[in-house]
Amino acid sequence: MFIKYKFKIMNRVELIQKIIDKKNFTRYLEIGSYKGESFFPIKCKRKVAVDPKFYIPLKRKLKWIYIKPSNFFNKYFEYTSDDFFKNKSSFIKKYKPEIVFVDGLHTFKASLLDVLNSLKYLSNDGVIVMHDCLPPNKAGAVYANSFIEAGKMNLEGWTGEWTGDVWKTIIYLKEKYKEVLSITVLDTDYGLGYITIKSSITNFVIDESIFDEVNKSTYEELITDPSIINLKDKEYHHILLQD
Ligand SMILES: C[S@@+](CC[C@H](N)C(=O)[O-])C[C@H]1O[C@@H](n2cnc3c(N)ncnc32)[C@H](O)[C@@H]1O
Repeated sequence: MFIKYKFKIMNRVELIQKIIDKKNFTRYLEIGSYKGESFFPIKCKRKVAVDPKFYIPLKRKLKWIYIKPSNFFNKYFEYTSDDFFKNKSSFIKKYKPEIVFVDGLHTFKASLLDVLNSLKYLSNDGVIVMHDCLPPNKAGAVYANSFIEAGKMNLEGWTGEWTGDVWKTIIYLKEKYKEVLSITVLDTDYGLGYITIKSSITNFVIDESIFDEVNKSTYEELITDPSIINLKDKEYHHILLQD
């Protein structure tokens, strides 16, 4: 979702920064960075961005190094997230992210793979924040392979906001990993998923039968019963940050 974070209360950047500051994290990985609107303002010692197509001219990089000098150390990987995890496994193993922001391709399958791949390398006390877990309306929840593809469908009620079916990843994780993951969605900034590890995970393979079952879930079901994604008021972040 392309939005100006500064007009939102308790947006993704603020949440991520609170987590980093509270937990003294130094390693931040962002999947899906686009123009760097979330990536650059975040203050963290070592930041890594992954995107198959960055829209970040040198001038913008330099501007942000000036504003926040720690941006000098940023690393950029122009890859799809799948290729990044496949081709750069030794880098990421060594890097061991403490916080991952998942905001790449807005489909159930892609976002699920991003979370599962991140969990393989996340430090034990790490946090995954996932954007777009609460669609703004039915049209914005449509399955598509890009924002442009979704827009071209000319759907009734289309507002130019697209979260896709990322929300299904939350349901899948709650179903498959209920004993080992703690999963909450904060009701702000198109739904911010907050995922932490309760005990270690060994199986990262997608269970196709759970996937197919979850994939049948509808937007109407989500809106009727938002507890299926464990939706909480944004103020609940105070509780989450106590852990
Ligand atoms: C919504 S934008 C990210 C916005 C940014 N995080 C922010 O908050 O301003 C989504 C980004 O995901 C990228 N993307 C698309 N497919 C991807 C993939 N397979 N792996 C990683 N990133 C992908 C797009 O190129 C796009 O830049």
